Parts: sequence; C-alpha cells; structure tokens
Amino acid sequence: MQDNPLRRWLTSLLARKGGKTVLVKALSKRDRRRVLRHFLALDKDDRLLRFGSMLPDEQVTAYVNKLDFAHDIVFGVYNTRFQLVGVGHLAFTSKEAHPDSIHYTDKEKVAEFGVSVSKSARGQGVGTRLFERAAVHCRNVDVDTLYMQCLSSNRTMMHIAKKAGMEIHREYGEADAHLHLPPPSPSSVLAEALEEQMAKIDYTVKSNARAALRFLLPRR
Ligand SMILES: CC(C)(COP(=O)(O)OP(=O)(O)OC[C@H]1O[C@@H](n2cnc3c(N)ncnc32)[C@H](O)[C@@H]1OP(=O)(O)O)[C@@H](O)C(=O)NCCC(=O)NCCS
Repeated sequence: MQDNPLRRWLTSLLARKGGKTVLVKALSKRDRRRVLRHFLALDKDDRLLRFGSMLPDEQVTAYVNKLDFAHDIVFGVYNTRFQLVGVGHLAFTSKEAHPDSIHYTDKEKVAEFGVSVSKSARGQGVGTRLFERAAVHCRNVDVDTLYMQCLSSNRTMMHIAKKAGMEIHREYGEADAHLHLPPPSPSSVLAEALEEQMAKIDYTVKSNARAALRFLLPRR
C-alpha cells in the first residue's frame, strides 16, 4: 500500500471516533500546570501502566517539573471544555539506551514514547492519535526507530502497538515494542504541519472561550 500520512490523518480526522474530533497539539511550558493536573488525576493502576511504578504525587510533580519542553516533545489533546485529556511524551535518546537498536537503525538517536489518556476520554481514539502524531514527528525529524515499553498485561496499549505495526518482544511481564519508520516525505511533513495549525486554532478558540466565560461568570 502507498505510504500517505496526509491521507491517513485526514481519514482519522473525518472518522471522528465517538463523535469527537481529536486534534493533537505540541505542548509548551505554559501547559505544564495542566500536564501535572492530568498526571495527578491518574489513579494508582494507571500510574503503574504509564510510569512502570505507582509513583506518588511528589514524584509525579518532580517528573513534570523536570519535563524539558525544548528538548523532548510533549503532545496533548484538549477536550471541548479545555481540559487536557491526553498526554504523549516523546523523548529522544542515544541508541546506546537500546542496545538492540543496532540491528534496526544506523541513526544516532532513537525515540521513546509514553502516553496516558484520562478515563473520561478513553475509547475515542485519543491514545491512537497521540501515538500516530509521535510517529509522524519522528519521521519528520529523521528518527527512524520508535520504542515503547509497557506491561504485557496492558491489552489496550498492546492493541494500539499491534495496530501500528510495532514489533513486540515480551519478557518477564514487560513488553518492549519498536516501530521502524520510513524517511520523511512531503505528505508526512504536510500532515504534521496541518494538524498542528488546526490544533493551535482549536486551542486558541477554547482558551479564549474559557477566558470570556470567566470574565462573564466570575467565581464567587
Ligand atoms: C492505553 C491508553 C493510552 C489508551 O488510550 P485510548 O484513548 O483509550 O485509546 P484509543 O481509544 O485510541 O484506542 C483504544 C483501542 O484499544 C482497544 N481496546 C480497549 N480495551 C481493550 C482490551 N481490553 N483489549 C484489547 N483492545 C482493547 C479499543 O477497542 C481501541 O481499538 P480500535 O481503535 O481498534 O477500536 C489509555 O487506556 C491509558 O491512558 N491507560 C493508562 C496509561 C497507559 O497504559 N499508558 C501506556 C503505557 S506507555
């Protein structure tokens, strides 16, 4: 099948799983507070799935405070009420961190991806869209290997990984999945640029609507 990320993105945009349009936006320092709120709202089980251990609030806070938005890429999905309901973290690391990567890539860096979606927004394609955006971003910065680690009991994430064509290795209850990505193409660059533009407009509209509501209906 012909590789066409732009068509894939438009198709998923129009599919509107669960009746909602999912737009993924690159987050910045100004979203840090909302990222923290999103992670703190994850219960113990979800924190185990997302971070590999049941991190207490203090460690989650320390993790978010240390997030380097200039170096790593953090993607987010906002719902209609301007709440951050999905966060994907893409970190670029030297391939020494994944010794097996010598079999898959001759690039210097590989990418690692972690994702979480608020319970209220699950099953609407948010996790899938965050993953797809991370993959297209990797392509566009010429990183061709994307890793994801999770528990092999995490059936939803395993499903997303398989659907994306990831190769999965299971060991001691953990799954190490990786995806080999093609080089950038005009379609992959355009798909990411268009999505970011649409997500920025969506973000601005929601943020202004929220500010207007706060002005008109101040809290007592
Ligand atoms: C994993 C997670 C990110 C998925 O987010 P989501 O927005 O609900 O995912 P999506 O809606 O995009 O996709 C869910 C897919 O899994 C499928 N699914 C759901 N439960 C499933 C299960 N028990 N077994 C198999 N597949 C399942 C859905 O049918 C859907 O598939 P489809 O798109 O082919 O119809 C979310 O559940 C989460 O945040 N979990 C806690 C943190 C975590 O596990 N992070 C991953 C480790 S990095």
